[in-house]
Amino acid sequence: MTGDFALVSLVGMFNFPAFIDLKKLSENQIFKLFEKAQSLEKDNSALKEHFPPVALLFFEPSTRTRMSFEMACGRLGLSSILLSGKSGTSLEKGESLEDTVLNVAAMKPSLMIVRAQDDLPMDSISQQVKTPWINAGWGKKGHPTQALLDALTIYKFRGQLSKERVLLVGDVRHSRVVASHLELAKALNYQVGCCGPQEFLFETESRVQSFHSLEEGLRWATVVMALRVQNERHDTQHDLFSYHTTWGLNAKTLANLDQQSLILHPGPVNHGVEIDSQVFHDPRCRILEQVTQGVFLRQALISTLLKNPGDLA
Ligand code: CP
Repeated sequence: MTGDFALVSLVGMFNFPAFIDLKKLSENQIFKLFEKAQSLEKDNSALKEHFPPVALLFFEPSTRTRMSFEMACGRLGLSSILLSGKSGTSLEKGESLEDTVLNVAAMKPSLMIVRAQDDLPMDSISQQVKTPWINAGWGKKGHPTQALLDALTIYKFRGQLSKERVLLVGDVRHSRVVASHLELAKALNYQVGCCGPQEFLFETESRVQSFHSLEEGLRWATVVMALRVQNERHDTQHDLFSYHTTWGLNAKTLANLDQQSLILHPGPVNHGVEIDSQVFHDPRCRILEQVTQGVFLRQALISTLLKNPGDLA
């Protein structure tokens, strides 16, 4: 196995694959992952070989990502161990995040799946641990598996990515999902637009087309993705009622979106803020399908990193 990992090393020094961002993936590699995810949707077979348990370290809250990685491990026949939050761990006694990571790595899991805030140096510590690593959401820096599962959902329902026009609505500046979509859009050649309150948008970002109004953006889009208003990352709290009036997805605003387009949201959803609850009944809405595709995509990624890491080299 060490020889295979030598092929895939995305980090150089220790010959273990670290899946931190999407910058180095080619269109071909991404579609190979999608093909694997789509075949797993049809035939959900477990890995044949035995691997040590997977370690999930979630230093930030999560429902979808954590449970879909656990589900993906279970479907592949892999056991997993979980550290979730600070409570009940030695972080409460002052142990650092870095020491926690190094100690879990010393237990020799087959893979580490880590969600953390920006202050964990994920790029450098993933090089130290000599264990394959997946970024499961890293502060504002990136959430690569979320962007991949979004793209897989678009591909499933729109049949293509290269001509798609993806409108991101709302809290673009604070979103790690957006950071990963900008990397993925480059590889897969889809267009990214955005609209939202001025303080939520990029000051300068040449890769993103800005729209002055939601209606204008929706008329342009083939996919609209509402983003959660991330109050925990803001210095001042936003008036959520006025937010929905101007930027919320509801039956009235969605009249501007083509009938063949898709409505997405990475979750968790603030009902009545980014999106009206009725939108979940709109046939264009694929928000829960994103969650379903997330399991297959993560199965495909785990399986590739453990068995065919050269496919992502
Ligand atoms: N989309 C997403 O990352 O959701 P969770 O925070 O619930 O994992």
